Parts: sequence; structure tokens; C-alpha cells
Amino acid sequence: MKKRLLMVSNRLPVKIAADGTATRTAGGLASALEGAELENEQIWVGWPGGAEEEFDDPEAISKQLNEQNTWPVFLSQAELDGFYEGYANSTLWPILHYMVERAKFSQEWWDSYKAVNQKFADVILSIAQDGDMIWIHDYHLFLLPELLRGTNMNLRVGFFLHTPFCSSEVFRVLPHRAELLRGVLGADIIGFHTSSYLRHFRSTLLRVLGKESEMDSIWYGGREVRLLAAPIGHNHLGFQKCMEREDFGEIVAEHREELNGKRLVLSVERLDYTKGVPQKLTAIHRFLKDNPEWCDEVIFVLISVPSRQGVEEYDQLTEEVQRAVGAINGEFGSVGHSPVQFLHRGFPPADLAALYALSELCLVTPLRDGMNLVAKEFLDCQREEIAGRPGVLILSELAGAAEELSNAIQVNPHNTEEVADAIARALEMPDEERKFRIEAMQRRLRLRHSGPWAQSFVEDLEKVPAREQRVA
Ligand code: UDP
Ligand code: G6P
Repeated sequence: MKKRLLMVSNRLPVKIAADGTATRTAGGLASALEGAELENEQIWVGWPGGAEEEFDDPEAISKQLNEQNTWPVFLSQAELDGFYEGYANSTLWPILHYMVERAKFSQEWWDSYKAVNQKFADVILSIAQDGDMIWIHDYHLFLLPELLRGTNMNLRVGFFLHTPFCSSEVFRVLPHRAELLRGVLGADIIGFHTSSYLRHFRSTLLRVLGKESEMDSIWYGGREVRLLAAPIGHNHLGFQKCMEREDFGEIVAEHREELNGKRLVLSVERLDYTKGVPQKLTAIHRFLKDNPEWCDEVIFVLISVPSRQGVEEYDQLTEEVQRAVGAINGEFGSVGHSPVQFLHRGFPPADLAALYALSELCLVTPLRDGMNLVAKEFLDCQREEIAGRPGVLILSELAGAAEELSNAIQVNPHNTEEVADAIARALEMPDEERKFRIEAMQRRLRLRHSGPWAQSFVEDLEKVPAREQRVA
């Protein structure tokens, strides 16, 4: 019989409102795992969104979720301030994305991070059974593997990081770098999206802990920890289902009408400073200035999903982007046409699929990104018969996806001229070249979607020997 799998991430794939209603959450981790379709019995453990104080009856919500194999970890407002908005998103997130100047440090946040990791461990241990596999996701829970190892249970623990792992020179800026590394080394398998992130992790182990490692393993605490690089895929099956829906044609038609005959250049991202939206707008400004003949022909649609709105850096970003969009439309717009449409909300997957299919160009220009699934989703959903011609992907070389998507037009997102020129080049690219580029990438990513990715990690976890067989 297949072993039971506990999936653990800070954010559950659904957000629960105070009255118990559930909505889908945006973000690569949740959307990819939605399409994983594993055969193992699966339990999700994670934060349901919101502060615990907002729920009238958290116990009733727990019961309701337990019936769907989901175990909520409620976080109080104080824990959200210290653990989530503080240590996870104002210390670790900027550091892992090389944005040292944005990182803030606080002992209170660190204490809260430790306490919430312990809280997750307590919830897991209250439901775990001997032999279970525990798959922990992302930077919010670096300490959890070691906390689980400290018990006597026979658990197989995997950890996967969905962000970049930065260079040791940057990671060592963190005051608690050694504790974080020791925490994650409690896992039996540790995975990253790219071989560069893995390389950085290994050199950080050497610089910070003085531990030598092999390419694919490290001997630590008297046992072997496997290390691997496995790029996550997108939810191919989910998008395919959307595109097979009976009403998909209508959804496409509605969006086509909105475009009013203009050629669509699409961007989709959480509004996060790592995504480089202000830099992208500077490049769009430059493109429109250098190519006035395109002003009335193209429409840049920016789907910017609100994210982490309690964090100061994110609130400032929203204002900055709104100002830049207004300035571009003021300068290049006409009575009937605004070249940039800023849509500050999330969209259901079927609408995303329709917009991906209709776009002539997708502009994915993060300053740093662990992977970037939007790039893969765009390529997968592209249909020549819908867009009229094959689409082109402009992709930041600083996104994890750039290692795999070598047929995209790759750009340095900080280089305004290069991005502006790439937009012009892509719009003018002959159909044969577009077709050649996109088909090579589509073939690959439709095989390596999130299903096989998750399956392979779980198979590796299943092979980890039982606790008593591991060398102590
Ligand atoms: N997404 C979504 N609704 C939206 C916009 C985006 O569900 O309105 C999803 C999108 O399909 C993608 C994910 O959010 O799967 C973003 O993942 P990505 O890896 O690009 O970036 P992340 O948000 O994880 O940094
Ligand atoms: C990224 C992170 C995820 C996170 C998501 C949304 O994809 O890797 O762990 O869930 O962003 O961010 P949020 O703070 O809303 O959970």
C-alpha cells in the first residue's frame, strides 16, 4: 500500500474566510500542486489565511476542513506580524531574492518564526502516523524538518524550496543563518528548482557550517541527506481542463472583444517587488517612445494580483505602479485607447487560459524568481488558431525558468533598452521563427508538468529507509 503523505506549506491551497467559505489562492506553489494528482492518501497542513481572532469558531472550521483532509494551522495577529509579515516576508524573502537592502531584522520576528515552526510541528505530530511521508514546502518552514526529526517517530521528511537559494555571500548576512541551515538539514531530501540554487546551498553549508557535501548528498548528524535540483512544472492538466470546457470559446470571445482588435502583450504576476513591475513599465515607456507607430496597435495588459498587503514594501509598490501606469497612459494614450491596462486583482484559471491563448507576447521580467510558472502556462495555453499567430515569450534571465526555456527571448530585466528592443523584435518576428521557438518549448513543458515533478519527489521520499535502518 502507498504511504500516506502530509503536504505542509505555510499557505493552504485555499483561503478560508471568517464564515468558512473557501477561495483558491494565487501563487506558484499552490497552483502547481493543485495539478499534482498523486495516488497517495494526502493530507494538507497549513495556514488558512487571516488572523485567528477573525474566526468566530475556529474549531468548527477545523472540523469542516478535516473532513476534506486539511488540517488548518491558525495564526494569531501577533504571529502574522512576527512570523509571516516579519521574518518570512521582510527578512527571508528579500535575502533569498538578493535584495539585501530591503531586508529588515528583528529578534522578535525571529522568536515568532521559531514559535510558529514549532506550532506546525505540534499540529503535524498530532496527526502523523508511523511511516508517514512529510513533504514541507518553502522558506516559511526552514526549521520544521529538524523539529520533526527530534521526535522518535519513523517519518520520512522532504523539503522543497520554491524561491531561489541565494549565494552564500548573501545568505550569511542573516543573523540566524546557522540555525536555519541546521533546521532544514533535518530533512531526508532537500530539493531546489535549479542546479545553481543547489550549488549556492552547498557552498553556504561549507561557509557557514564548515560542512563539505557531494553533488547530490551530505553526510550530516550521522545520516545521509539527499540533495537534488528538480525544476517544478506548471499545472498542465488543470489548464487543459479549462481549455476543454464547453464555455471556453465564449470566455475567449469576451476577452477578444475587450481587445478591440489590438495586439495583446500580457503580464501576469503577484504584485511583488521581485517581479520587476516598475522596471517593466520603464521599458514599456521606452518602447512606446521609440516606436510611436505601435502605440495604437498594441495593448499591454498587466494582471497584478494583490499580495502581502500588510507589508510596507508591497503597499508602496502598488502606489508606484499605479503612478507609472497613469503617466504612460497620459503620455501615449488617446481618447479611445490607453496602451497599458493595470488590472489589480486575481482571475480564475479559465480567464487566464483565454488571455494566455489570445496574447501575441508574454512579458515575464522578474528581477529574481525561484521558477516562474506564468512563463510555462503562457507557452502551454498558446493556440495559433486563437491568437492568429504563434506567440513569443520574453523572459528574464534571472528567473529559474530561464534554465529550461532557452528558446524564449531572454533579457536582463534591469536593462531598459534591451527589454524595449525585445518587445519590438518580438512583435516583428516572422511566424516561422515564432513557431520554431514555441514548439520546442511546448513539447518539453507538457511532458514535465507538475504531475511528474511531484510524483518523482514522492517516489524518492518513499525510498528513504525506515528510521531504524538509517545510520544513527
Ligand atoms: N495566478 C492565479 N490567478 C491570477 C494570477 C496568477 O492563480 O489571477 C497563478 C498563476 O496561474 C501561476 C501563479 O499564480 O500559477 C504564479 O506563479 P509564479 O510561479 O509565476 O509566481 P509566484 O507567485 O509563485 O511568485
Ligand atoms: C510564492 C511563495 C509561496 C507563497 C506565494 C504567495 O510563490 O513561494 O510560498 O505561498 O508566493 O505568497 P503568500 O505570501 O500570499 O503566501
